[in-house]
Amino acid sequence: MTYPQVGLFAVGSPSHSYLEFKTEPQSSNLDLIKAVANMEFLQSTVNGLNLVIGVRPSIWSSLAPSDLPPGIFDFGESLIGPDGFAMPATQRDLWLWISGQSTSQVFDAGLGIINILSAYATIVEDISGWSYRQNRDLTGFIDGSANPSLLEAPEIALFPHRTPGAGGSILLFQKWRHNLKSFGGLSMKEQEMVIGRTKEMSYEFEEKDLPSNSHVARTTLTADGRELPIFRRNVSYGTPTDHGTVFVGFSNDQSRLHEMLKKMTGIPDGTRDALTHFTTPLTGSYYFIPSIDSLRKFADRTEFLSARSEL
Ligand code: HEM
Repeated sequence: MTYPQVGLFAVGSPSHSYLEFKTEPQSSNLDLIKAVANMEFLQSTVNGLNLVIGVRPSIWSSLAPSDLPPGIFDFGESLIGPDGFAMPATQRDLWLWISGQSTSQVFDAGLGIINILSAYATIVEDISGWSYRQNRDLTGFIDGSANPSLLEAPEIALFPHRTPGAGGSILLFQKWRHNLKSFGGLSMKEQEMVIGRTKEMSYEFEEKDLPSNSHVARTTLTADGRELPIFRRNVSYGTPTDHGTVFVGFSNDQSRLHEMLKKMTGIPDGTRDALTHFTTPLTGSYYFIPSIDSLRKFADRTEFLSARSEL
């Protein structure tokens, strides 16, 4: 049995920190992953924090080639729709997600981690996220209604037992900046047509009433009459003047995530997701989220003890 990183499924934390790193040219990817695996102490149950670790697919495949499903790719090229709307590729090397009840603890852990990893990697993106009105996006719509339940999510997010990468997952990570002024200028009905659900209760539309360019229509994929879901853990970020959505989507089928992005840009059929007129993707990366067992193979207790003393 291989065990996933449990933070993937740990819902209910109001405070989140997402850190993206680039490796230092002089340091090796192996040293970086060892340093990360040695931060095992941050996963202590007494810290009240969850830590999830993601690695650039091409780096993981060079370090553990038999521990990644074939065909997994980096976010190497921006996706550009027929009208020029672009989803930028900003692939980084390492992604860490710290979450917890206490913003102070999440903050302290972020500072400590950046310090520990500074010999191996530079921080290039640092986003503080929080749960807006429990489970709503800043647009006011409930985000996650169509998500699989926690009973189903592991089957959708994780590579199956006894396959390469078992217990691991693929993450799509994007920072989207909202233009709430222009979205707020729409009537309630117009907003609902953009998203493809009702605002207050998140009721689904009848299929015949769902606009083909609504967000729900663009991100619903089907095969043989069955929907192909992903597992989303989005939160909000920002201040009253600069804010948006941190898109955090997991799947054991990377092509689903990529196909959804393409449909949102209008690449397959020229129909662009209406939501993208009110929010702009600023970043885009894929990360492999190794199982706990895979990560542990890189841990080394001596370094673990010295890293701990720095916090
Ligand atoms: C600013 C960015 C985004 C916002 C604010 C947003 C918000 C929402 C909202 C409000 C819903 C409807 C309620 C729900 O089922 O959760 C939804 C559904 C969904 N979104 Fe997004 N989303 C964003 C980006 C994305 C991206 C980039 C993807 C995929 C790569 C995606 C995939 C989905 C899926 C699969 C659904 C469920 C569709 C269904 O009903 O089957 N979303 N999103």
